[in-house]
Amino acid sequence: MNSFAFTYQTRVYFGTDATDKYLVSELKKYGKNVLLAYGKNSIKRTGVYDEMMNALKEAEKNVYEFSGIMPNPTYAKVQEGAKICRDNDIDFILAVGGGSVSDCCKVVSAQAKTDEDIWTMEFTDHRYPDEFIPMGVVVTMSGTGSEMNNGAVITNEELGLKSGVLGAYADFTILNPAYTLTVPLRQAVSGAFDTLSHCMETYFGKPSESFITDEINEAVMRNTIDNTRKMVADPTDVNVRGELLWDSAMGENGILKIGKITDFQCHQIEHQLGAFTDCNHGMGLAAVHPTLYRHLYKDNLSKFVRFAREIWNVNANGKTDEEIALEGIRCLEDFEKEIGMPTSLSEMNITDKEILRKTADTCNITRGCARQLSRYEIYDILLECL
Ligand code: NZQ
Ligand code: ZN
Repeated sequence: MNSFAFTYQTRVYFGTDATDKYLVSELKKYGKNVLLAYGKNSIKRTGVYDEMMNALKEAEKNVYEFSGIMPNPTYAKVQEGAKICRDNDIDFILAVGGGSVSDCCKVVSAQAKTDEDIWTMEFTDHRYPDEFIPMGVVVTMSGTGSEMNNGAVITNEELGLKSGVLGAYADFTILNPAYTLTVPLRQAVSGAFDTLSHCMETYFGKPSESFITDEINEAVMRNTIDNTRKMVADPTDVNVRGELLWDSAMGENGILKIGKITDFQCHQIEHQLGAFTDCNHGMGLAAVHPTLYRHLYKDNLSKFVRFAREIWNVNANGKTDEEIALEGIRCLEDFEKEIGMPTSLSEMNITDKEILRKTADTCNITRGCARQLSRYEIYDILLECL
């Protein structure tokens, strides 16, 4: 286990009663002018918007709206939100939605406090914002775990990059499983697969020897797989949605990363695919993971063997380590098919080899990956994913 420092910044309120119990009292801690940020139509359709407005009214706030935050939020949308904040002297941001809304608001929160361009600050000058408009996140779709970290994934359309930008941590988050019941099943499964991907990308990081962090991770992976199956069988079960909601937060709240350097090579590839195709995040990950792992398992063999045995119950009798590891990867791929995720890019209508070439040429190469991949090999992997 590497040395580590760990601080927890976000107050978490979980449960179907969490909004009623905590939202108004949390809102009362902040100034008068609140930015209510959300996506397109879902919160109005589901009634969550009315619940938010009622709480904001009870807390006696002036409400300004920032709507239309799209899946895979753009940097232009961040600038739009920051302008609303500046023009209206916003004291607090209430982000209501999935990872896209929360990510967009994390960077709005920082951009509104400075005249400097956040993208230039972070990617050219390698400096990070330290002043933020405080924010809270009400999660309506689980999977990214964005509500419990300060990383935001933003698409810069001008530059053709989808990159991780550091922004604000939420002061608090409301995790109400009932809100996630209205997410269409395919989207909800995609979110659950994203959670599993976060766990795997951390598990296969460095060091590869297992310790307490990895054992907690194994529990989260097993729970995510089990409850994804249960959700597919019965999409109306709120307890199952609750398990997945907390799995999602656990995947990205830092606990599974304690003492580790994470891998996240699959995410880096998927993010650039997303920059060029605007594809669904969880589905893009599902299409790439098994093929990527078939390229990497020999470089982290004992961990892939452990993954096969602990997560997929692969029977090791009479098999070589390589056979066990490959069977684990096959189980992952079979699970993707079982839950309706794509296992190839062509299933997502991504067939343009030029896009694959650009993806390989522009994605980050991570140092936590079992082996540093060359851009040629990433291109080969993407071709195999077709
Ligand atoms: O826009 P609306 O109308 O709200 O519809 C949304 C959207 O179309 C809908 N939705 C959300 N809650 C709903 C609902 N529909 C019905 N009922 C509800 N209760 O779901 C659609 C997808 O929402 P989105 O927020 O885009 O999904 P997700 O939470 O998967 O977020 C994806 C984004 O997060 C980034 C991804 O790259 C992608 O841009 N990620 C952020 C991470 C982080 N900050 O830690 C980590 C992840 O690896 C990921 O990269
Ligand atoms: Zn992800």
